[in-house]
Order: sequence, then C-alpha cells, then structure tokens
Amino acid sequence: MAKPDLMERVVNLCKRRGFVFPSSEIYGGFRSTWDYGPFGVLLKRNVKEAWWRSMVQLRDDIVGLDAAILMHPRVWEASGHVQAFTDPLVDCRDCKERFRADHLPESGACPNCGAKGSFTEARQFNLMFKTHVGPVEDEGAVAYLRPESAQGIFVNFLNVQTTARKKPPFGIAQIGKAFRNEITPGNFIFRTREFEVMEMEYFVSPEDGPRWYEYWCQERLRWFVELGIPEDRLRLRPHDPDELSHYSTGTSDVEFAYPWGWGELEGVANRTDYDLRRHSEYSGQDLSYYDQEADRRYVPHVIEPALGADRCMLAFLLAAYHEEEVRGEKRTLLRLDPRLAPIAVAVLPLSRNERLNPVAHEVADLLRPRFMIDVDDAGSIGRRYRRQDEVGTPLCVTVDFDTLDDRAVTVRDRDSMSQDRVPIDKLVQHLEELLSA
Ligand code: GAP
Repeated sequence: MAKPDLMERVVNLCKRRGFVFPSSEIYGGFRSTWDYGPFGVLLKRNVKEAWWRSMVQLRDDIVGLDAAILMHPRVWEASGHVQAFTDPLVDCRDCKERFRADHLPESGACPNCGAKGSFTEARQFNLMFKTHVGPVEDEGAVAYLRPESAQGIFVNFLNVQTTARKKPPFGIAQIGKAFRNEITPGNFIFRTREFEVMEMEYFVSPEDGPRWYEYWCQERLRWFVELGIPEDRLRLRPHDPDELSHYSTGTSDVEFAYPWGWGELEGVANRTDYDLRRHSEYSGQDLSYYDQEADRRYVPHVIEPALGADRCMLAFLLAAYHEEEVRGEKRTLLRLDPRLAPIAVAVLPLSRNERLNPVAHEVADLLRPRFMIDVDDAGSIGRRYRRQDEVGTPLCVTVDFDTLDDRAVTVRDRDSMSQDRVPIDKLVQHLEELLSA
C-alpha cells in the first residue's frame, strides 16, 4: 500500500467506525482539535492504561499525580515558558497564511499558494494559551492553560517526595490535558492544539543523570515494541544542540516511521536540575534533597520521558492497519495488541433468532464484568466478523444452534481466523488465556 494512502485509509476508518470525529463538525469543524467516538475513547483509555501500568503499577519507584491544569502564573515564568516556549512564525505576504519557519519546504515556496520569496521575517510566537482567572480581565488576572504537565510535578516535588517517602532515584507520573497554540496543527491527531500527555519525571542524583537518561531511552523504545510496533518502524534520534528545548542538555526522540516520514513519537529529555532550581529561586522554597546516607544535600536532576496519548494512538493505529485478500475478498483488520483493542471480545449470535437470543445474552452477561465486549446480531455472520476485524477485536464468540444442545460456542481468532469449540463453563478461562498469551 502506498504510504500516503495508508494515512488516508486510517483517517477514513477512524471516521467511519467511530474512533475519531472532527471537533464541532456540524459547525464546519475546528481544524486543530478532534473528538473521540465510542471505539476511539476505548482505544485511548487502553493506551493510557498500558502506559500507567508500565510506569506506576509494575514499579515501586514511581508514583502518580494529577495536578491542576490552571496553575499560578509565576510557574510559567520560573519554568522559562513565558520567555522561551516559542516557535518561529512567518506570514506569506501573498495569501496571508501563517507557517512555522522551521517547517517550510526547502524550495522556499509557500505551501498554500506556491508564491516564492513571499515570506515575512520570522518572529517568535509564544505557544501558550492565555486566559483570565476570575471576573476581571486585567493583566493581574492572566493565567495560562498548561502546555505540558511536567510543571505540576515539579511544583509538587516536596509534597510527593515527603508523603510517599521516596528517595532518588524515584519518579512521578502524570497523564492529563495540555494545550499549545500550534502555528500549523495537522496530520490528523499528530499535532493538535489540545492533547493529552503522559509524562514521567524521574529524580536522580546529579552524577546518575546520564545513566538514567540512557536507561529511559531504551526502556521507552522497548515499551512500544512490546505493545506491537515493529522494531523497524521505530528509531532513537538524539537532538542536535540547536534543537534542544530551553531546559534540556540532552534529548532523544523515539521516532516512528509515519506515512510522511520519520517523526517524533516521544521525547526523552535530560532536564538536569533546571526546573527544581528555577522553582526554588522563584518560590523561595528549598527544593533540594538531603541524602542521609551520604550526608549531602543536592538538587535532584530529572530525566523525563514525555509522550502524547493521541500521537501514540495514531502510531498504534498506523502500525496495526492491514489489508489482505481472503477468498477473493478484501479484509481490513487492525492487528492491535489485545491490551489496546477497544473491544476484547465480540458476542455474535449466528442469526437474530428468538431461540438463540437467551443464550447469547447469558454468554454476554457472563463475559461483560471481565472483558470489554460488544454484542452484534445485525447482518450476516461473515460481515460481522469483518466489522470486528476492522476495529481490532481479537476474539469473537459465536452462539449457534448447536450451542442449544452442547452448551459450547465457537471462538474465532482475528489474526489467524482459526476457530475453536469451547464449552460455556470454560469460556472465561479460555478467553483470558488467549488474551494474555
Ligand atoms: N514536558 C516535555 C514536553 O512537553 P514535548 O516533546 O514538547 O515535551 C511531549 O512533548 C510529547 O507530547 C511529544 O513527544 C508528542 O508525543 C506530544 N505532543 C507534543 N505536542 C503535541 C501536539 N501539538 N499535538 C499532539 N501531541 C503533541
């Protein structure tokens, strides 16, 4: 399949099957934001759950946090965002469109109208959304929608460290919304003005920074592979010095091979002691750590893996999308890992029939508390299998007329299309084994 075609097909599937809709579509859409439909919300929740599980549940050195989106405006002065969270902006004098200067094609032609030499000088544009808190809209009431969740972690460093009784090396993980007034949002949910980030700040002693930076680069790469992205569609790319964010001495992107080329999926940054030091200065609070064993005090260094949940979901969709021919017909399927698939098990009565309905409901009621299920009895069984393949459902359970006699059902596997007959009283265990294999 040609690569641009892949993107178009995934975007179409997302719209057609209720994964992702253009925001405010009945008003013509809002270009830079998207809404998640019934399957999309399940997939995104599973992506976030898989991240949380690997970061918090399976480790005893990382704890969670859920900080507010609106924070004291001084936070963003201390963090450097008011001064330095900018992108270079140019206008095309001919068509008046705006672009990021560092995203322009090498030809120098305007991507919108094709004019050459039509751009204004680049000026720095701050990406933070400004708002006002309270009823008075003066400068004293200015607040920002957070452009990253990390600062909520830094300002709570002492609260968490003391209450969770953690010593470096330890981490704080958070998932939440972030907002950036991107100059050129685009590529579907790849770059939007409202998105969700999954960020973890890992606090270490200064001399341990480089070692943990390497560790988290490898660990994050491994996470994507473990959840089904082929290794050859991922790579680590260290940033050149002129690309580094204002807080970083070293950053590597985990890049994914998108249909338009290699691009950032996740960033792993060595933020040194920049953030804690700046917040100490601006707040007057001592954010250093006293290491009793070594009898020394230091400001911890921070290694940060930061990943967008929406962008991550796009990468999983692109990697999972397959088309194949089965008995002369096209079959579209999402080969999603069962931990990510929106629906784990579909329950399909062979036909809409009053003798099959009670057993189908019995099976659905048995499975519902344990798995995310979908019950579908509309259309031919072949068509219903295809519908489930297309949204990535790993297993289908078919209730047929033999079920009425033998109390067994057919379990069909999405990828191999193989079918097994399984007694209803062994079904839960059987499905659990298949889904965790
Ligand atoms: N706290 C570090 C930080 O914010 P970042 O590289 O600017 O780092 C982290 O953002 C991740 O968030 C990116 O790797 C990407 O996955 C995601 N991301 C950033 N901007 C985004 C946008 N406008 N739309 C969707 N995802 C975005």
